[in-house]
Parts: sequence; structure tokens; C-alpha cells
Amino acid sequence: MKDLSFNTKAIRTGYKTTTEQEHSEAIFLTSSFVFSSAEQAANRFSKKDPGNIYARFTNPTVDAFEKKLAILEGAQACVATSSGMAAIFATIMALFKSGDHIVASRNMFGTSIIMLNTIITKFNIDISFVNLSDLSAWENTLKNNTKLFLLETPSNPLGEVVNINALSRISKANSILLAVDNTILSPALQTPITLGADIVIHSATKYIDGQGRCLAGVIAGSTDIIEQIHRFLRTTGPSLSAFNAWIVLKGLDTLSLRMKAHSDNALKLAIWLEAQDQVEKVYYLGLPSHPDHNLAKSQQSGFGGIVSFKIKGGKKSAFKIINATNILSITANLGDTKSTITHPATTTHGRLTDEERLNAHITDGLIRISVGLEDIKDIIADIKQTLV
Ligand SMILES: Cc1ncc(COP(=O)(O)O)c(C=O)c1O
Repeated sequence: MKDLSFNTKAIRTGYKTTTEQEHSEAIFLTSSFVFSSAEQAANRFSKKDPGNIYARFTNPTVDAFEKKLAILEGAQACVATSSGMAAIFATIMALFKSGDHIVASRNMFGTSIIMLNTIITKFNIDISFVNLSDLSAWENTLKNNTKLFLLETPSNPLGEVVNINALSRISKANSILLAVDNTILSPALQTPITLGADIVIHSATKYIDGQGRCLAGVIAGSTDIIEQIHRFLRTTGPSLSAFNAWIVLKGLDTLSLRMKAHSDNALKLAIWLEAQDQVEKVYYLGLPSHPDHNLAKSQQSGFGGIVSFKIKGGKKSAFKIINATNILSITANLGDTKSTITHPATTTHGRLTDEERLNAHITDGLIRISVGLEDIKDIIADIKQTLV
């Protein structure tokens, strides 16, 4: 399997056809599994027999998704969750305890920051925030009890990046786990484990589904780490449903083609936006003007579909543009075939304090576009007519 290319693995691995000889992967919509005898039930519960017991523990459709994603991320194992937030929460709850310290990037999805500040701290886990790309800040914030580095690269919505390999050298030298939220690129464009990370987390709700249909999350890493997280999930319940697992499993078949098309469209939009007088700044890693363009090129195989820009005139101008679009959807989701437009300061990052928002560089004039798979000429024309 190792020698197969990404697309072949994405289409051909992970699933074992049942005795019905179906060609497409089946959905096992069942909450429990039947045992042939009391002895078999006892053996399943005591783990002498590894078969299915109950869908909160395992399900063949979920298992197929987990196996395929582990292969695509270059990980030993993988476990799926009901959403991306459940994946981040389960990782922290399963692996760390009261008295531990986590260093996290302040340039993360707003809800991730809120979870760390308001929920995780309740368990007496100490959190420090640093600027994503500042390697010395990660190192200088270390304490004796630091157990985890947690980050998104590239960040949402500004496309900031950190050198994963360099950061993993710091984490390994200090016996700290490095967890990367890889939602924005997906394994089609970046595989953090091959660059030295220990854990990869996804909101599979985004590009892995790719059509805005369901919530899903996933965590990939070593067998030991994933077993610990699986034990937490089967006991606390945020497991992925078989139906949603089937959606994201089928999403993986076309992931690489979609990511390339999202990236091509996003670059065209970013180049066009950069030439507009009303636009103060464009944030897209694919632009040579982006300060992290070369670093991104060295660790990513594409730049992804998120383009953000700062419009002159602040929130008033941003709202005017958003309200005047005809094709783009005003919605908080990203990674859909449909292009979406968002005002991060009042939506995805709206619950942050003014200081947290400023630290994350989320300004009032910032607009985020998740560039979809429509003809990019139509998307550019739609935005152009809002600038008049
Ligand atoms: C980078 C990132 N991580 C995690 C999440 C949370 O995922 P979910 O909505 O599936 O819980 C999001 C959601 O937008 C995200 O953008």
C-alpha cells in the first residue's frame, strides 16, 4: 500500500467488502451487533475476540473511514468523532490531566480558543498562548509540566504558518506532544505526521466531507495515543455516526481533485483581489507577497481554498460587500463546493474578547472567503459588483 499514490489510496484502501459483495462501501446503520452465543459476547467484552459490540465502540463504516484516513495521513491509527470540536476536546481530555500545561497558538479557530480558556482550564490544566510562527516563543513558554503544543497551520482565516519540522524538534527534545489541526489543507495538501507531528486533528465537516452535509471529526497518531483517545470516546460518547462516517468516507475518494481545484480557484481570486483599490491587504499563502509563501511551499503541496482580505472602511464596508453578493453564501462553514463569505470578527471569532481578537489579528475590515468549485469567473464577477 505504501507505494500507491494518494488518489489510489484514497479510493482503494480501508474497506473490506462484505459477503454481499457490494462494490460501494456499505452503511452499517445499527446501534448494536449480535453475538452468536453468550461465550462470544463474553469474549468480545473481554477483548479476546476483537469483533463489534456496540456502535459507540466500533462500527464497520466508521472503521473504514478511520483506516483510510490513517493511511492518507501516514499515521499508525486513527479514531473518528462526532465533530471537529469533539476531536480536539477528546484529545486533551484523554491524554492530559489536572496540573498539566498546554502551549497553544493564539491564531486558531475562535471556538478552539474559547474551549481552551473556558472549559479546559476548569480541569486545572494551565494554558499559554503564543504567536503561531514564532519558534522561540514556543520554546520560551515551556514549563516543567508542559505536555502539549497545539496549533493550526495554516491558521484560519489568515493563513499564518509555522515550520512543523522545526517545532517538532523542540517538542521532541522536551518530551512534549505536538498536535496539528490540519483542517484547512487536509491530507491531500499536507501530512503533519510525516513532518514530525505526533497527532493530527481534523474537522472533517470541512474539506473531507467537502459538500457541507454533516459534522465529523477525526484524530490520527500512534496506536498508543489513538487507543487512549478511543477509550475516552467509547466511555463518554461523542462517537461518529455510521451515516456521517459514510459521507466523509466517500468524500475522501475525491479529496485530492477537489483540493487542487479549490487551490486553483483561490489563487485566481487572491491575485484579482490584490489588484483592487478598495482592498487594503490580501491574505493567501499562494501569493508570492505573503511573508510565509516559501515556508508554506516547503511543507505543503498546495495552498488551499481560504482567501481573506482586509477592506478599506472597516466593518461598515465589510458588511456592505457581504450583503451585496448574489452567488456567495453568507455562512460560517468552509470547505464546501459552494463559495462562502464570512465576517470573522462578528461570527467565527465573535466570542473572543477584543484583546484576544486583536492578538489573533482579526480586524473589523477582514472578510474571509472559502473559495468553492464554481467557475471562478462568476465568483470574481459577483465580488466585483459589490465594490462599486
Ligand atoms: C480549523 C478548524 N478546526 C476545528 C473546527 C471545528 O470543527 P466542527 O465544526 O466540525 O466541530 C473548525 C470549524 O470551523 C475549524 O475551522
